[in-house]
Amino acid sequence: MTFIEESARNLPPLAFTPQPMDFDHPPVDPVAECERWFAEAWRLPTPNPNAMTLATSTTRGVPSARTVLLKAFDAHGAVFFTNRESRKGEELRANPVAEVLFHWDQLGRQLRIAGAVTELDDADSDAYFATRPRDSQIGAWASDQSRPLESRETLLGRVMASIERYDGSDVPRPAHWGGYRIALDTIEFWQAHPFRIHDRVVYRRSGTNWLTTRLFP
Ligand SMILES: Cc1cc2nc3c(=O)[nH]c(=O)nc-3n(C[C@H](O)[C@H](O)[C@H](O)COP(=O)(O)O)c2cc1C
Repeated sequence: MTFIEESARNLPPLAFTPQPMDFDHPPVDPVAECERWFAEAWRLPTPNPNAMTLATSTTRGVPSARTVLLKAFDAHGAVFFTNRESRKGEELRANPVAEVLFHWDQLGRQLRIAGAVTELDDADSDAYFATRPRDSQIGAWASDQSRPLESRETLLGRVMASIERYDGSDVPRPAHWGGYRIALDTIEFWQAHPFRIHDRVVYRRSGTNWLTTRLFP
């Protein structure tokens, strides 16, 4: 077996100094701390700092993971949008729990958020859909997400058909496309340190309070 080598990479320095989290005295409010981490991640020179790995599973415990984009975040949860008839949509319907994970390598940070999942209401899904570029709106109609596709031509044909169908009018949100909100049941902050002596703290919601536990890295 050949192992992948770890090599020192010469990366350009960050254009700002991230503010360290105090793991000895974790902040009382992890939501505000998440928002602070997001604000710093948004300053990274990377195309999708809001990309997160979404893990779901079937009721039999078969896991699956994929990247989605965080589109809203507050004390009520983390929101993303997708085709609800996709594999993830089917898994979430049967087993409405999920975890999302961000890894911002340049910041040496990993953030995990897990909790119960609910569908965003139609008004919020409509409002977000209306902000999307028209091409993305057409794409939502054209893609039978997660279904077998015989050729790229088939997909392009469906794109053209959707373009023609909505020519001269607004593109409505497909009923099968919308948002999901992951409740903030647990939140884990992870900060890299030299020699793998990393910091971790997990917050667990307990009523209106948060319980914190420091974890070995
Ligand atoms: C950077 C990036 C961002 C993505 N964002 C989304 C997204 O917000 N929503 C979505 O449905 N798929 C998104 N995708 C595609 C998903 O990773 C995935 O391929 C798709 O949703 C089908 O997943 P499923 O078959 O497990 O349901 C993104 C992919 C990448 C690489």
